[in-house]
Amino acid sequence: MKSLKVIGNKNLNGTIRISGAKNSAVALIPGTLLASGVTTLCNIPNILDIDALEDTLNYLNVKVTRASGSIMIDTTNLENKEIPYELSKRLRASYYFMAILLARFNHMEMAMPGGCEIGTRPIDQTLKAFRLLGAEIIERDEKIIIKADKLIGNTINLDMPSVGATINSILVAVKANGKTIITNAALEPEITDLCLMLNKMGAKISGYGTKEIEIEGVESLDGTNHDIISDRIEAGTYTMIGALCGTHIKIDNIIPEHIKSLTDTLSLMGAHIDIHDDYLIIDNQNTLKSMEIKTDYYPGFPTDLQQPFTALLTQCEGISQMSENIYENRFMNVPYLNRMGAHIDAIGRTATIYGPTKLAGCEVIATDLRAGASLLVAALVADGETTIKEINHLLRGYEEIVEKLTNVGAKIEIEEI
Ligand code: EPZ
Repeated sequence: MKSLKVIGNKNLNGTIRISGAKNSAVALIPGTLLASGVTTLCNIPNILDIDALEDTLNYLNVKVTRASGSIMIDTTNLENKEIPYELSKRLRASYYFMAILLARFNHMEMAMPGGCEIGTRPIDQTLKAFRLLGAEIIERDEKIIIKADKLIGNTINLDMPSVGATINSILVAVKANGKTIITNAALEPEITDLCLMLNKMGAKISGYGTKEIEIEGVESLDGTNHDIISDRIEAGTYTMIGALCGTHIKIDNIIPEHIKSLTDTLSLMGAHIDIHDDYLIIDNQNTLKSMEIKTDYYPGFPTDLQQPFTALLTQCEGISQMSENIYENRFMNVPYLNRMGAHIDAIGRTATIYGPTKLAGCEVIATDLRAGASLLVAALVADGETTIKEINHLLRGYEEIVEKLTNVGAKIEIEEI
């Protein structure tokens, strides 16, 4: 089992380059299976979630060639096979294979998808979309079977702008007969990235990035080349680290608009940030004031930054409030932050953070991906040594975390126990 050992309270200085977006990559990689032939994706992060997807592609007899930062996917020999729990449990995005295999073969079987345990995470909206497009769904013994005689375009009105349901609807609708309209669609940039790739392959999708997406189904798609966008959650996490520990930190290779809710919030709290076309500079010269934050769908404050931001709020002057509106169980990091010396009361979906508090290193556990990021932020600002256990959660989503932080002066290493 791997742990991360961090010696905190160091001044950080230098450049951190942001990698390709995990949540884009995990949708675009399955998305390539809609095309016949070869697709090359660049700016792919080297993280455990991509390894998990590669294993699923290999299992489906898809040829995968990975080089530094890129992945070449040859779907010529794609086979329709039942995806077992050992593969589907490894990440939430496994459920994009439901849509892919349904669209390609009109039939799919797989064990229920896994992912971080941060709430119940139902998939009713995805299943509703599949049904509206003509599929029949059988749920049996933790397994799901989906089949259709014919997939036919329809209007899909999502009850909430779910990222996964929007993506799954798109993946099926691009090959369904006729026109599909998705209303109340999610606006996340990763969805736009997926639509741009699919359109390059020959799909006819418009309206992405708005609440109404229109898709005209096509017979077939061809392979293409595509660069995925940079990771806004990784960018946001390092921006917070810069605001707490940076004497001068450059966060490079970012799309500033994608993290505007974060940079606006930090600016209102008094942080010193200079934002440029594809990078920002941040430091810890200004004392940060408390803030009330509510997570929301994009372009609101992202739930995926809530846990690291809660760690940052422990260092701010005054009483802050963090309300988690997307997931019901995303404060698993709080007991560990309190163990480090924070004063946080988390009741229901709201955490009240009394700051500033001095943090001290100790042993903590990364219960999920962003909880790991939260503990990392805390460890970097804490006195002494913190050991973050079970960091495979963290390595699922952050590329070269040790190298990136060591380069700017952090004392951090992975220990194999
Ligand atoms: C994606 O999850 C991301 N994962 C999550 O990132 C992210 O937190 C989330 O979007 C919200 O931004 C990937 O892209 C792989 P949703 P997803 O469907 O698609 C409810 C991270 O840390 N809902 O938009 O699963 C659901 O319970 C991860 O990188 C239903 O009720 O999220 C949740 O409360 C974690 N029924 C809310 O909607 C449904 O059918 C948003 O879920 C679908 C969702």
